[in-house]
Amino acid sequence: MPNFQTYVLKPLTYPCQHNDTCFECEAISARNNKLVVATTKGETYLVRVSQKDEKRLLIKGDKVTRPSQASILQKVLMDFRDVSEATEICSNIEPKRALHVKRSPFLKSIDFFASRFEVTQEIWIEVGFGSGRHLLHQAKKHPQIQFIGIEIHKPSIEQVLKQCELQHIDNILVLDYDARLFMEFLPSNCVGKIFVHFPVPWDKKPHRRVMSQSFIDEALRVLIPSGQLELRTDSPLYFEFSLGEMLKLSKASIHIKKNEALEITSKYEDRWLKMEKDIYDVTLVNEAFSPPIPKVGTLKFSQVIDFQKLCQSFKEETIRGDSFFVHFEELYLIDATSGLIRISFGANERNEKCYIWIKNGVVSYFPDTVLATQNNINADKLIKEWINGLCN
Ligand SMILES: C[S@@+](CC[C@H](N)C(=O)[O-])C[C@H]1O[C@@H](n2cnc3c(N)ncnc32)[C@H](O)[C@@H]1O
Repeated sequence: MPNFQTYVLKPLTYPCQHNDTCFECEAISARNNKLVVATTKGETYLVRVSQKDEKRLLIKGDKVTRPSQASILQKVLMDFRDVSEATEICSNIEPKRALHVKRSPFLKSIDFFASRFEVTQEIWIEVGFGSGRHLLHQAKKHPQIQFIGIEIHKPSIEQVLKQCELQHIDNILVLDYDARLFMEFLPSNCVGKIFVHFPVPWDKKPHRRVMSQSFIDEALRVLIPSGQLELRTDSPLYFEFSLGEMLKLSKASIHIKKNEALEITSKYEDRWLKMEKDIYDVTLVNEAFSPPIPKVGTLKFSQVIDFQKLCQSFKEETIRGDSFFVHFEELYLIDATSGLIRISFGANERNEKCYIWIKNGVVSYFPDTVLATQNNINADKLIKEWINGLCN
């Protein structure tokens, strides 16, 4: 991920503009970690400055706001380096070729799927598309289908977006999100195929696998009748586990193949074929219509608080609910009435991070796209009680 190291940064007077980036303000924590709020092309990112060792500072994009296209962050960091007159000791932000910082129109946020996505044609989904060979091949072959590619590895995302542009492919939407949670944002009965090809086996931590009972249930809900969930794997353990989960369904149509050749081999498949490994396919075919579900919205605050009281009582802590938790990690001060609190929250096996941003006493989530999934609703209730407890 883009970052650089330096010994000193010139203090900035905020706000200050450099090229396309406006550096709005900075927030500092008791541990002397610094967040610089940077806005470019209508999006806000946090630049994190922390002490690497006694002498060196490490500057990188904060994980919470890190864009899927690394080139955008590289440009913000280059602007920050230049405006702060920093001398790099070690860096990977200056690219060898000119930076391509155009945000792709095909890269969508989960907020888009939660609030604006309309189904107008049949959808096919590829989970964990990696190099994108299979996804790009399918999208070219089926131009009438709307593809959704889900991936968490940012270089793979950037690579596929670039290929879409170069090959003029306009029927793939790319999403940087955990595929285990994605399907709850789709309406019922709109997907023809879901490909899960060579998922990470997670043999020692099976709870991290993409395939699970809840993933299979959600897949069946979003699939049209005769729609298919297709797992392809080299791992006998993953194969047996997934088949076992599918067999728990009270009624199911399941098809198994071994060493079936496809029209296109993915990067991982090539690797396993070279090693002469067996390849297993399990296909689950949906046979029923599912009832509609309500759309998932976002969570909001409607609170004005006494920020000074919150600062006086703040301490790092974790509060646990039945199957979820909230960790209040670090408080960053901007001024007497404004600051940011970094939190992580969610289900015990999977959590997300965001900030609570207090601006002149007014509280909001940052980014403002905390989705109203059941675990987040529970966490949100706890967060609001915690804030009221500290401020009253
Ligand atoms: C072993 S690679 C296979 C890539 C590709 N399907 C292939 O066959 O070459 C697994 C991919 O799944 C992605 N991945 C892992 N967990 C994921 C998740 N929860 N949601 C979305 N993608 C995930 C990884 O980043 C990785 O690119």
